[in-house]
Amino acid sequence: MPLASPSSNPSLHGRRIVLGITGSIAAYKSAVLARELKRRGAEVRVLMTPGATEFITPLTLATLVDNPVHSDFTEDVHAGIWTNHVELGIWGDLILIAPATANTLAAMVHGQCDNLLQAVLLSARCPVVVAPAMDLDMFTHASTQSNIQTLAERGVDVIEPDTGPLASGLFGKGRMAEPEDIANHLAQRFEAELPWSGKRVLVTAGPTQEPLDAVRFLGNRSSGKMGFAIARVLADQGAEVTLVTGPVVLDTPSRIHQRIDVQTASEMNDVVQSMWKDMDWGVACAAVSDFRPLKTSQQKWHRSEMPPALELIENPDILATMGKTKQAHQRLIGFALESDHGQASAQNKLSRKNLDAIVLNSLMDDGSGFEHDTNKVSVLFKDGKSVSFELKSKYDVACDVVDLWRTTLTP
Ligand code: CTP
Repeated sequence: MPLASPSSNPSLHGRRIVLGITGSIAAYKSAVLARELKRRGAEVRVLMTPGATEFITPLTLATLVDNPVHSDFTEDVHAGIWTNHVELGIWGDLILIAPATANTLAAMVHGQCDNLLQAVLLSARCPVVVAPAMDLDMFTHASTQSNIQTLAERGVDVIEPDTGPLASGLFGKGRMAEPEDIANHLAQRFEAELPWSGKRVLVTAGPTQEPLDAVRFLGNRSSGKMGFAIARVLADQGAEVTLVTGPVVLDTPSRIHQRIDVQTASEMNDVVQSMWKDMDWGVACAAVSDFRPLKTSQQKWHRSEMPPALELIENPDILATMGKTKQAHQRLIGFALESDHGQASAQNKLSRKNLDAIVLNSLMDDGSGFEHDTNKVSVLFKDGKSVSFELKSKYDVACDVVDLWRTTLTP
């Protein structure tokens, strides 16, 4: 049962970050930081104080972030073109000042506006994060500590400097935090704002295969695409997703916490029941085989050995078992693929398995169900309420239902 390791290097995909660099020797690390933010998918614009440009060139940063670097109030003084600091302050999802000198921290406290970075800070509407860098005595000085405390009280997020050898030759606290740690810190901040942040969700997906002999099995035509799309959307929206899947040929969505591959319904049941008590939500998309062969063989059956009839025994109902042990804070979602009397049958499963909602897709709808890239679903709730969606890509269906569950069922 291969277990994928929890994902590392959390993403900053699509985030707009204004990176402010001030005049400290640690500015050389800002190049690595800018590259790391870009590598994780952020869009980065760089502002440098005049002091910073003495430590590292704007050209280096502009090349790394693929955007012009700003350091003056004017772009072209003769042509009368000014740098629109208001636009820059509004553009960013976050302003990161790394390194932040003692001087810049003091200027922030007093609302000074001596350079472009300070002007942007005064007009910014987004959160501000600072990574101080200075010599140990400057850092422990009462003025610096009082400035840091004031900024923190105003909501500025301060990333503590590291302890180690300093440019002065002294040893102590004052080194700017490492670029990778700063990038992780930002990713965690953004993550905490996501709608499913802090929720642990167990998703089952794909078919199960019930072996007959060494080469044959009972299976079904589930591709796993719907379950994988749901797992992806939940993970992108901040959930810690554990994906338990039968045999599929699909790549693991990038932000999934862990993926556990199983073959049979019994294996899936063992994994799911052992994890369910620690989850907040369960979403059962898997097309679980209701039966398995009574007799199986480790060898391949030859034609002459094939049983004349297959005797089947019942598999555990994974979802119904989850429903029986469901705790008050847990939410449980099922899926139903029906060929006839869909609504009534789905409503029946919803109450029989103690679910909070069930997603119904009909085999009668064109482009819906197994093997398609599209799906057309309705979501039914305990109180009889139902919401229907048009035929859409499975990814778009996943976005719709995940949003609906959260807004309707969040405890
Ligand atoms: N399910 C499950 N374990 C099973 C069978 C089904 O967890 N052994 C889950 C599916 O993942 C799905 C829901 O139950 O979320 C409904 O599956 P379906 O096969 O439609 O339900 P059954 O209870 O098997 O009903 P039917 O008699 O229609 O097959």
